Amino acid sequence: MREYQVKELIDRETIERRIAEVAKEIERDYAGKNPIMAVVLKGGFVFAADLLRSIDTPFTVDFIGASSYEGTQSTGDIKITKDLDNPITGRHIILVEDIVDSGLTLYNLGEVLRKRGALSVKIATLLIKKIDRPFPLDVDYFGFEIPDEFVVGWGLDYNERHRGLPFVGYVEFTED
Ligand code: IMP
Repeated sequence: MREYQVKELIDRETIERRIAEVAKEIERDYAGKNPIMAVVLKGGFVFAADLLRSIDTPFTVDFIGASSYEGTQSTGDIKITKDLDNPITGRHIILVEDIVDSGLTLYNLGEVLRKRGALSVKIATLLIKKIDRPFPLDVDYFGFEIPDEFVVGWGLDYNERHRGLPFVGYVEFTED
């Protein structure tokens, strides 16, 4: 594996403050609606833990795992690796994700859940990369917009490492 260093991009205090703000937005928008908070595995679990502890209106927590087929750029191709446990017909769903990169996975998940009868499907993500996307993706709640760098920490991994870092950092490869 190539050598690399992790450099801090967003510190803990800034992340915690921002997540509390996003939580209040969701709390206001979903008061009395009892949404399903569908945490997208694996990376979404750390952001979800912070977010959900700051939302003071009832919700249901569930987990979903999905992957877009390797090498696809097109929409429509998705494999659900862990499905939601709750029936979703007539329910509002918020997909809780660590990062939106191409957005393909979330776009496809949204389509699948709407077809299954969800009343609404929205996205809450800690990070969103500032890139052009070839399809429309509405990201309703996000913590930070970041440059197109590979980032780790706060649930995000590089080859399954660094998910527990208490900050978001970018991976800088050292030249050899
Ligand atoms: P997308 O479908 O291209 O938006 O990618 C979705 C998934 O790829 C995210 O949920 C992450 O698990 C992973 N991913 C994308 N960018 C990064 C990154 O910079 N660091 C770590 N994981 C990433």
